Amino acid sequence: MSLLRLRRASLSYPAGGGSVEVLRDVDLTIRRGEFVTVLGRSGAGKTSLLNLAAGFVAPSSGAVEVDGRPVTGPGADRAVVFQDDALLPWLDASENVAFPLRLKGAGRAERLERAAALLRLVGLEGHERKNLWELSGGQRQRLGIARAIAAEPEFLLMDEPLGALDAMTRDRMQELLLKVWRASGAGALLITHSVEEALFLGTRVVVMEPRPGRIGLDEGLDFSARFLEGVPARALKAEPAFIAARERLIAAIHAEEAA
Ligand SMILES: Nc1ncnc2c1ncn2[C@@H]1O[C@H](COP(=O)(O)OP(=O)(O)OP(=O)(O)O)[C@@H](O)[C@H]1O
Ligand SMILES: [Mg+2]
Repeated sequence: MSLLRLRRASLSYPAGGGSVEVLRDVDLTIRRGEFVTVLGRSGAGKTSLLNLAAGFVAPSSGAVEVDGRPVTGPGADRAVVFQDDALLPWLDASENVAFPLRLKGAGRAERLERAAALLRLVGLEGHERKNLWELSGGQRQRLGIARAIAAEPEFLLMDEPLGALDAMTRDRMQELLLKVWRASGAGALLITHSVEEALFLGTRVVVMEPRPGRIGLDEGLDFSARFLEGVPARALKAEPAFIAARERLIAAIHAEEAA
């Protein structure tokens, strides 16, 4: 079993001759097959947390590890989906999805076959040869997700991957993301500003408290498991348990403001 773990990880950035502490003593473990959603106010340190997990930055103290081995930089075991899609505009849809496979050394035939299967999975069959500017924002986000899972990462790290979508498309993408995640078997970390999204997608939700960023609330959830068992999304989101959890999370996010 694979584990991505932050152990008492702190992070400081240089600021005006000194430094500012952005994260303090963050303990977080993500197992394969788990889906951890992260909420918290703007500036609370959510992206900083993802940057640590991805290996883009190193902790000032504490550790970031995969299966007990220290993370020393980005790796193919941890795929990242950025808020802006970060696709490669000079490549077509199929080549964008196949790009991580090229880095892994897969041959052309294998790349194209795998890209076609992934594009089917995210509902983009028939769009293989399209240029990026011929795709809608939602289609590009699906492409970004397909590319992230192309190299079969152990962990999927996503920063507001559905933030730019209208409500209807976003609901559909959430359902798609759950199916893609389950099929991949990966462990997922997803940052969102939407409390409903965090509740619907997560097997666990954490709320970050600001200045310095710390993990406040950390709760297990079963809505996504029940959705994957066939309970309709709209029925789940209307349940008293869902609504109560939503109120609890909103209160946790704004706790300090009220104090
Ligand atoms: N490279 C950097 N250098 C200095 N300070 C930074 C850097 N990146 C982030 N910060 C600071 O760290 C704090 C946390 O930023 P972070 O981007 O992690 O917040 P966030 O929770 O992702 O916010 P948002 O919801 O707005 O995306 C902020 O105060 C920010 O100004
Ligand atoms: Mg952020």
